[in-house]
Amino acid sequence: MKINPMWDKYPLIKHELGLTLALMQKNIKTDNEPVSKAILEMINSGGKLLRPAYLLLFSMFQKTDRNKIIALAAAIEILHMATLIHDDVIDESPTRRGMSSIQKQFGQSTAVYSGDYLFVVCFNLLAEYASDFRGIQQYGHHMNAILNGEMTQMVERYDLNISIDQYFKQISGKTGQLFSLATFLGAYESGNKIKFAKNAEKIGLNIGVSFQLMDDILDYTDNSQQIGKPVHNDMREGVYSAPLILAMAQHKDLFFPFLKKKNKMTDQDTEEIAKLVIEFDGIKKAKKYAETYTKKALIQINDLPDKPAKKALIDITRELLDRQS
Ligand code: IPE
Ligand code: IPE
Ligand code: MG
Ligand code: MG
Repeated sequence: MKINPMWDKYPLIKHELGLTLALMQKNIKTDNEPVSKAILEMINSGGKLLRPAYLLLFSMFQKTDRNKIIALAAAIEILHMATLIHDDVIDESPTRRGMSSIQKQFGQSTAVYSGDYLFVVCFNLLAEYASDFRGIQQYGHHMNAILNGEMTQMVERYDLNISIDQYFKQISGKTGQLFSLATFLGAYESGNKIKFAKNAEKIGLNIGVSFQLMDDILDYTDNSQQIGKPVHNDMREGVYSAPLILAMAQHKDLFFPFLKKKNKMTDQDTEEIAKLVIEFDGIKKAKKYAETYTKKALIQINDLPDKPAKKALIDITRELLDRQS
């Protein structure tokens, strides 16, 4: 089982992430050959496994049944995979994790069914392993918020006057809510009080928002190879993210002629926009926001009880600000 090398420094987490991946694999039982082939290949394609890792870490403040926690970690990563597979259909993205995306390799129908199937697997795992209805209710709440974030992003596409607040609403939903579900479940299902779990949820939201800011920054850097997915795709799709919004603020007249071409923008146009974004400090300003959200999370983590997991949470959360992939 291939575990992303970023976990080499954390042997316990790495070990449990290996068990998580194995359990995910074991739960793919559909008779549909293309669907199971597509999913199994993706399980082994070297994703960073951040959401299950955060779930595992937040479960380590109590002594608890590790098998149950690993099942929930598997459920969270499966849910993440489902959102990625569907996201690639919507974005018509050819690559994911340095490989051909499922929609490109197996076609859109197989991709849609694969994502749907994974939602079912996730729900079944939750139903089997959650301690009570609280965890399932929480799942419903976060799924709703993720979907709303995605749909708001769709409605606000190509809006040349989109504000940074609108952007933060979108990303708190589409990405923040999956991280906050992971941290909540880790805390709650390991037997902590609801107050602790609610605090974990808040921490996860800040981590997730910072994470999406960094993802959006990476979309403006020229390293499609390294991140394993296309760059500059968002702006052509009309998804205007923090670096662009912040760079554009005082210089709309320079950006509009390019952006008005919408999905007719050429590679040269998107290159030009990327240059303007850098020139007008879009990357720097977006990075400042990422730092602010990470800092908020670190202050909250600092107040957690002194357990080994706390130190790992601090290190990992900090390292995410420097990630290049
Ligand atoms: C990609 O998430 C989707 C975003 C929220 C930006 P990751 O960057 O965690 O994806 P993998 O699982 O490591 O490929
Ligand atoms: C990801 O947002 C959010 C999801 C719910 C999948 P992105 O559109 O930025 O993700 P990537 O860049 O395709 O991984
Ligand atoms: Mg995408
Ligand atoms: Mg992205």
